[in-house]
Amino acid sequence: MIYLVTGGAGFIGANFLNYIVPKQKDDIFINIDNLGYSGNLLNVENIESHENYHFRNVDIQDYNGLKQVFSEWNPDVIIHFAAESHVDRSILSPLHFMKTNILGTFNLLELARNFWKDKEHCLFHHVSTDEVYGSLKESGYFTETTPYHPNSPYSASKASSDHLVRAYFHTYDLPVTISNCSNNYGPYQFPEKLIPMTLSNFLNGKPIPIYGNGQNIRDWLYVEDHCQAIWHIIHNSEVGETYNVGGNNELTNLEVVRVIADNLSAFTGVDSSRYLEQITYVKDRPGHDFRYAIDASKIKNTLGWSPEETIESGMKKTVKWYLDHQDWIEKVSSGDYQGWIKLNYSNREVGNR
Ligand code: NAD
Ligand code: TYD
Repeated sequence: MIYLVTGGAGFIGANFLNYIVPKQKDDIFINIDNLGYSGNLLNVENIESHENYHFRNVDIQDYNGLKQVFSEWNPDVIIHFAAESHVDRSILSPLHFMKTNILGTFNLLELARNFWKDKEHCLFHHVSTDEVYGSLKESGYFTETTPYHPNSPYSASKASSDHLVRAYFHTYDLPVTISNCSNNYGPYQFPEKLIPMTLSNFLNGKPIPIYGNGQNIRDWLYVEDHCQAIWHIIHNSEVGETYNVGGNNELTNLEVVRVIADNLSAFTGVDSSRYLEQITYVKDRPGHDFRYAIDASKIKNTLGWSPEETIESGMKKTVKWYLDHQDWIEKVSSGDYQGWIKLNYSNREVGNR
């Protein structure tokens, strides 16, 4: 089987490849990534010498560049991770999100449609987010039938791409599956996101910027559990199906920061209260969704997947990984990262709790 993995140099794509390439020696994996700010070949250096792994630097906005890869490999399965993924960036520069997340997905669908006319066993798996469903109040969960209600340019662009994928199934019989997953954490997550940023700032004595009052809730899933869910879907699902994937780990942002502080202090010996002094409340994200929570019973009952890690076990692994890879944070944060920090945080005066 030949797998074309888009965005395989980013956080989840790299974890997926690092997990699967060494296990599936008879399969071929082609990683296409344009090595944008969040994609880095450091993230896949453990597999770069594997004979069943190949990298191509291609932008999914570039139809002809993609076509060359399809002509060269004629993949059987596409696993589409590549995206602009950070909500705050989508608020400041939405155009990139429309181009990569909508047009890029459209290019891949068009190529799959054209190249797979006579192929019997093929699948387009689209990796998406629970943010397409919008925001929950204190109770309730997102199910696969929850109406789409995206609130940020990021989630609207992902919702658009989900709709395109569904449309290609209904209109052209393109074999597709979709997963809508909750917030991931784990190794190789770019330090703009809450968990790696908090870890890095704790270690460097910098402020931890908490948006609003820190009471917004996310459902956290350890990244390897997400990768296993995707593998289950690709191999066991009927085509045309969509699955919600979640960790059953709802925490407020302040609770997340406390879990990180507790785990870090177990490794460093520094009292966690010292870390928590670094918390700084800043002006809220515009349109900040209050709560995301996943009902993952469909994937559990039909495919037998459920997460292996709890927030305690997953965070312990994550903290250890970042402590062992502090040079990684420095290397990936060199580029335009400092410019981003200035842009995103300098206009957030300190807010009220
Ligand atoms: P990421 O930003 O860490 O990685 C994205 C990767 O895509 C990077 O390697 C980047 O270089 C690449 N990329 C971006 N634009 C590209 C383009 N035009 N052409 C080729 N490559 C391009 O993001 P992530 O957190 O790994 O997310 C991966 C996927 O999972 C996304 O589709 C995201 O919407 C989805 N998702 C993420 C989460 C999460 O919590 N991180 C949760 C649910 C779903
Ligand atoms: P993030 O990691 O950006 O994921 P998403 O917005 O896709 O859920 O943010 C997770 C939560 O943390 C979200 O409620 C916003 C909040 N947050 C902060 O409070 N401060 C920050 O500096 C960042 C990046 C996020």
